[in-house]
Amino acid sequence: MQKWSRRRAQLSLLASLFTLILISSILSNHTSKTIHSPADQPPSFPTHTTSFNNSLQSTDEWLPGGPGWSRACSSPRNYKPRRGALAEEREWWKGRSLGGSCDLFSGRWVYDERSYPLYNESECPWMSDQLACRKHGRPEEQYKHWRWQPQGCELKRWNAWEMLEKLRGKRLMFVGDSLNRGQWISMVCLLQSLIPAGKKSMSPNAALTIFKIEEYNASVEFYWAPLLVESNSDDPVNHRLDDRIIRPDTLLKHASQWEDADILVFNSYLWWRSGPKIKLLWSSEYLTCEEADGLDAMRLAMETWADWVSSRADPRKQRVFFVTMSPTHLWKREWSPGSEGNCFQETAPIDREGYWGSGSDLDTMRMVDNVLTTLSSKVTVLNITQLSEYRKDGHPSIYRKFWERLSPEQLSNPVSYSDCIHWCLPGVPDVWNELLFNLL
Ligand SMILES: *[C@@H]1O[C@H](CO)[C@@H](O)[C@H](O)[C@H]1NC(C)=O
Ligand SMILES: *[C@@H]1O[C@H](CO)[C@@H](O)[C@H](O)[C@H]1NC(C)=O
Ligand SMILES: *[C@@H]1O[C@H](CO)[C@@H](O)[C@H](O)[C@H]1NC(C)=O
Ligand SMILES: *[C@@H]1O[C@H](CO)[C@@H](O)[C@H](O)[C@H]1NC(C)=O
Ligand SMILES: *[C@@H]1O[C@H](CO)[C@@H](O)[C@H](O)[C@H]1NC(C)=O
Repeated sequence: MQKWSRRRAQLSLLASLFTLILISSILSNHTSKTIHSPADQPPSFPTHTTSFNNSLQSTDEWLPGGPGWSRACSSPRNYKPRRGALAEEREWWKGRSLGGSCDLFSGRWVYDERSYPLYNESECPWMSDQLACRKHGRPEEQYKHWRWQPQGCELKRWNAWEMLEKLRGKRLMFVGDSLNRGQWISMVCLLQSLIPAGKKSMSPNAALTIFKIEEYNASVEFYWAPLLVESNSDDPVNHRLDDRIIRPDTLLKHASQWEDADILVFNSYLWWRSGPKIKLLWSSEYLTCEEADGLDAMRLAMETWADWVSSRADPRKQRVFFVTMSPTHLWKREWSPGSEGNCFQETAPIDREGYWGSGSDLDTMRMVDNVLTTLSSKVTVLNITQLSEYRKDGHPSIYRKFWERLSPEQLSNPVSYSDCIHWCLPGVPDVWNELLFNLL
């Protein structure tokens, strides 16, 4: 482990520069237009109360991301942690035992052509053009045939009928960014073929998008909140990755959308990892604006989220999951020393046990670990980072739809625009959902 830590340190400067550029372009412009957009509707922006100053909140200025936000944040101060946040983190890695002998999240990938994929890409009407890799020309399909084999135990195989029973009368809601949206689309595709036409429906693409399963009175929903707290990136179409302003202590508008869901699956990570510093517009200290690096800002958001979970989620009625960092594969030399490139043209998983790339930030994992520890049994962790680390072959690379026009220079150098962040479907997110199925 020490070896890769050192290596990671060497790479991290360059890597952060590059991730900045790559992630910015991949996350900011396409995440929005990913799903089925027959009539790409303007997103409806729920205008719920925030905890903003009442005398101002009625004006457009102060709507999320409105001019008021920018004005308040025109010359931010540097953020200083208010509590001993850093000290807390020294204590991590006290070996969070998962209880029992089996850790579903450590194991290996086994090639299994017979039982995987669990559904057909072309038969899922809600497949995203961002993730439909065969449709966009991916020449081989081994990436669809991998099964996750935990060490020392068996994963209960995906059973869509059983999942539907678990969902009967319930709302399952995914909340987060485009990675979580990929997991939501995977879940929709995993279930939808069992439901006859006319008994299922998808609401138009908006901040909250709902797949309804009539006979089961169930729904599988996705709510766009890439930074968990309120921010100027809450519009699923118009993002501002380059000038993020978050309300670190405010998520009531979001919570009003998710609070009635029975099963909540949250994620957040990559939006904190790229771009310049993040501005913090506090509501407790009205009109003060600070700026912080991604990790500090994410910690604040996670703490606000954790406050919501501990005070508002009802463990008797609600299950809450948190999905850990989704790895990226932007640097081929990390798994194949001496090579140039990224995930483009990778067709097999990494077979080095414990492989960990620079895209999965250990400090973030520690921070998340600490926050989740404070919530103990109220949140179940879907610790997908290590298992997904192996899957350098699982990304769309160039085999997806790109909404902006690619220049001739880009086209002549496919590595330059490969998407090594999202995941092809069928593929890795199906396994995340199998794990969710096992833990429900
Ligand atoms: C995003 O798209 C807009 C137009 O829709 C374009 O002007 C802008 O340069 C793009 N940004 C990135 C980072 O690709
Ligand atoms: C709300 O704003 C008004 C006018 O801008 C100000 O007088 C008042 O003190 C503010 N209230 C709070 C709770 O910040
Ligand atoms: C996918 O389609 C093929 C042929 O169209 C069929 O043989 C196979 O059973 C389908 N797989 C699933 C998981 O539905
Ligand atoms: C359907 O589920 C919702 C909760 O998601 C519940 O409020 C409602 O009563 C259910 N309806 C029926 C007919 O079971
Ligand atoms: C997830 O698993 C990794 C090992 O793969 C571990 O280091 C980390 O603490 C775990 N994170 C959480 C939040 O459980």
